[in-house]
Amino acid sequence: MKHIKLHWLLLLALAAPFGAAAQAGGSAAGETQLEQGKQLYQYWCSACHAPGPGHPGTQALEARLQGSMPAVLEERTNLTPALVEVFVRNGISIMPFFRRTEINDEELAAIGADWSHNPGE
Ligand code: HEC
Repeated sequence: MKHIKLHWLLLLALAAPFGAAAQAGGSAAGETQLEQGKQLYQYWCSACHAPGPGHPGTQALEARLQGSMPAVLEERTNLTPALVEVFVRNGISIMPFFRRTEINDEELAAIGADWSHNPGE
């Protein structure tokens, strides 16, 4: 019995890196990353950044940006994955920074993928 358990653990440990590598390339994998990013955004960010009142991130950005660009992050065309990463890792004002134990690098890349076709500022 003990022997079987160890066998499965070993299989899991071996399989994990292959899963990550498989996600890295290809257009189907790209969609998967986008989907994953949307779910993570929903989980970690939308409480503050969803459209409409009652979302402190959207409200703070509305006040700061004064209509010069959308307050809803998903509508922004001048954010890039790198820029989003800076804010997520450092936080700003009442936005907390997120640790790698909360959002790891792969997950952060997935969140940033939503803005990956933007030219930047
Ligand atoms: C507790 C609420 C809160 C959470 C959760 C939160 N944010 Fe924020 N975020 C804010 C606030 C408030 C600001 C605006 C700060 C300011 O400039 O006054 C902000 C600003 C930002 C900005 C900068 C926009 C700009 O143009 O200055 C980015 C990018 C951002 N957040 C991304 C994220 C992402 C991605 C997540 C999820 C991983 C997230 N935030 C989670 C509250 C939050």
